[in-house]
Amino acid sequence: MEIKKHILIINGPNLNRLGSREPGVYGAKTLDDLQNELETAASALSLDVSFKQSNSEGEIIDFIHESPNRHEGIILNAGAYTHYSYAIRDAIASVDVPVIEVHLSNVHARDDFRKESVIAPVTIGQISGFGFDSYKLALHAFRTNTDRGNGK
Ligand code: DQA
Repeated sequence: MEIKKHILIINGPNLNRLGSREPGVYGAKTLDDLQNELETAASALSLDVSFKQSNSEGEIIDFIHESPNRHEGIILNAGAYTHYSYAIRDAIASVDVPVIEVHLSNVHARDDFRKESVIAPVTIGQISGFGFDSYKLALHAFRTNTDRGNGK
């Protein structure tokens, strides 16, 4: 019997506001909707998923530190921390769990400050601009390819 990979999906600051937060940018669906859709997508791919959301940098770092020996991969939407949190970047570099960076919006087509990701160099890749599908594409990537390093 196949042992299922366990993927941790972390949503960072303000993503608990999905559904009411700038719906023109982020859509009308909520974080619960996202998590329900990802449960379904993961089960179709024979992956196990669990979810964390935090508005705090330190808590996101703790989730990353706790991931070795529990999770085979992390899908991380670090929200605005993506663009300036060297502490989250260092947390990713400190564990041997592969991380995929995701964004609902296309961060390269928005404000200049969103074009830089300080975490991208320590992830295995970035998926940006496909709404909920960004996370689903990341699940597919973990299904087919986990045997790479963490970009470090
Ligand atoms: C985001 C993009 C970030 O620039 C922004 O700060 C967010 C959401 C996205 O999913 O598109 O909070 O990560």
